[in-house]
Amino acid sequence: MDKNTKKLSIYKSFSNSEKYSIKWSNYFQVYEKILSNYRNKKIKFVEIGVANGGSLFMWRKYFGKKAKIIGIDLNPNAKKLEKNGFKIYIGNQSDRKFWDHFYKKEGKVDIILDDGGHKNLQQISTVHYSLPYIKDGGKIIVEDTGTSYVKKEFNNPSKYSFINYAKNVVDNIHRRSPLLKKELSFYSKKIFLVEFFESIVVFSIDSKKCFENKEVANKAHNEWAIDYRHNDYFGNLKSKLDRKYGLLNKRSFFRKIIRKIFYRNFIFNLLDNIKIKKIFRDLNN
Ligand SMILES: C[S@@+](CC[C@H](N)C(=O)[O-])C[C@H]1O[C@@H](n2cnc3c(N)ncnc32)[C@H](O)[C@@H]1O
Repeated sequence: MDKNTKKLSIYKSFSNSEKYSIKWSNYFQVYEKILSNYRNKKIKFVEIGVANGGSLFMWRKYFGKKAKIIGIDLNPNAKKLEKNGFKIYIGNQSDRKFWDHFYKKEGKVDIILDDGGHKNLQQISTVHYSLPYIKDGGKIIVEDTGTSYVKKEFNNPSKYSFINYAKNVVDNIHRRSPLLKKELSFYSKKIFLVEFFESIVVFSIDSKKCFENKEVANKAHNEWAIDYRHNDYFGNLKSKLDRKYGLLNKRSFFRKIIRKIFYRNFIFNLLDNIKIKKIFRDLNN
């Protein structure tokens, strides 16, 4: 373990946990980044995947006494940990009825962390069925999302992998942009932020921040400022025309013609795509 991780409070809570637990070494820096604001607050924290209870003890040490720590597992043995002061539910994270029962009992929660079975349906069900019950300011955290790339046991890569679902959520939050001309979905109205870490995906919930987006200007528009976005291929020629003849002012006929020729030309899109393709190749090497 690297020395910076060893200094983190969450790592100390992990090391001092009363029971066995195993985590990936990069998780501690992620936990610290996304969870430190919730320490010593009166929160409801839920973890799917209890096993020996090691992480439940870790969370209790980390969040402090005010937090209610709840565990969920399919294995009925997990119930034993209730004698240690945790609330334990036995159920299947892929089962909608289980979630109905769970949220009927517990009401809304602040944070739910999925360290359960790590299969696509299990991870996706956690997010889908929990989303209506996460308080504003809360989070859904899914661990071991590396399984989206693993064949054995997890049947991935697949169109229906958890990571593909999460990318779909990213598409959904963009519905808040009027550029997409799409209606807001339940996801786009609830999820403010999606963060991708190596093997952890975090959804931050805040319906108040999920409004339909619109452009705002601070002052009246500057007439002389021409956007050079499409100037990359024949930009010099265009700006010379502009400077010399003033042809490109906002309402001019020539500007419209030039726009048609230069902006909507499929040759430029083609040239762009050749360059982008090369960057994608580099990215995947
Ligand atoms: C990786 S272990 C959890 C480890 C624990 N969080 C820790 O760090 O100490 C995964 C647990 O998820 C439980 N599990 C697997 N599939 C499940 C399901 N469909 N619903 C609920 N729990 C499940 C397993 O029984 C197992 O105890």
